Amino acid sequence: MLSKGTVRFFHSAKPLATSSYKLNKHATVANGFLSAIGNTPLVKLEKLSKETGRNIYGKAEWMNPGGSVKDRAALFYIEKAEEKGLIKPGGTITEGSAGNTGIGLAHICRAKGYKCVIYLPDSQSASKMETLRLLGAEVHAVPVVPFDHPENFNQRARRHAESMENAYWTNQFDNLESRQAHIETTGPEIWAQTQGKVDVFSCASGSGGTWAGVTRFLKDQNPQIKSFISEPPGASLYNYVKSGFKSTEIEGVQSFIEGAGQCRVTGNIAHDIHLVEDAFLIPDQDSVNMLYRLIDEEGLFVGGTSALNVCGAVEAAKRVPEGSTIVTILADSAHKYAQKLFSKSFLQDRGVYNGIPDHLKKYASLE
Ligand SMILES: Cc1ncc(COP(=O)(O)O)c(C=O)c1O
Repeated sequence: MLSKGTVRFFHSAKPLATSSYKLNKHATVANGFLSAIGNTPLVKLEKLSKETGRNIYGKAEWMNPGGSVKDRAALFYIEKAEEKGLIKPGGTITEGSAGNTGIGLAHICRAKGYKCVIYLPDSQSASKMETLRLLGAEVHAVPVVPFDHPENFNQRARRHAESMENAYWTNQFDNLESRQAHIETTGPEIWAQTQGKVDVFSCASGSGGTWAGVTRFLKDQNPQIKSFISEPPGASLYNYVKSGFKSTEIEGVQSFIEGAGQCRVTGNIAHDIHLVEDAFLIPDQDSVNMLYRLIDEEGLFVGGTSALNVCGAVEAAKRVPEGSTIVTILADSAHKYAQKLFSKSFLQDRGVYNGIPDHLKKYASLE
């Protein structure tokens, strides 16, 4: 038996000469869920890098403990509110979120002992509501109405917090702590992981926190770094950028990629949008084809916005010299979206099945 404090190796610790695994001797212990957030790997997309002659990297945000990039923002919403005395022990966090922000908040609320109340549109899938309930959140599904309508899910979340003592609405789209989270975590991680040798950052925008925070941090280190936004159809930032920040006219028909693309300029984006180099409009066909390529060629099972982001990175690659380093975000994994993104009938209904290259059609394997 091992005595307390003794570490004994029963097998040789010598690594296999052929293994891709490398022991990170600096990896530390995380004190619970909260300190396991962030410090995700930067994964080189080998095939795409070879094909484009540029080094394309994806930040593996699905490896956050709540499963997405939004864990970072959720942590900052809550901990900055604690710092400012806006929420006290035993309080209630409210948010309007159908997706990853709600999941991140629900995890953190359990870890910190807060009650979590989530409002979402009743059009959202039952499995999303179930995940939030499984995480102990109180879930309210409400009818779909525009953002500024009093019954919109965001407005309901705001009023819920206003109606009680010791409650805080995290207000994900306009709460600048989302941007701040990426200024303090994702940006510095990318800078350290590339040893400052990053030439381009490119990603899509939901709240805009990831794009704005990483862009702001990287440009503060080196103003020569270029930053691009990739947009799905049915959102307004593409025209906003193309029109020199004059028009927010929506471009294209609503995308089925969930998690990015807004119909307005959010608070997080408004701050830093002038730092953008250009915007790319990525058709859903391209995102689906890239989603399947990432599985087929790289072994990566990522969500729709990650595929969209990689399409944007490939577009950005055309704008910079050979050998440049481009970083994008792999925001979450594909599991949550499988019933759509891997369903042959869904993709046929949306008119994108036939456009999938023949050798990749096998991935649309759900009916
Ligand atoms: C899957 C996914 N990708 C991208 C984003 C966009 O991130 P941000 O809100 O930081 O713009 C989100 C936001 O919810 C998301 O859930």
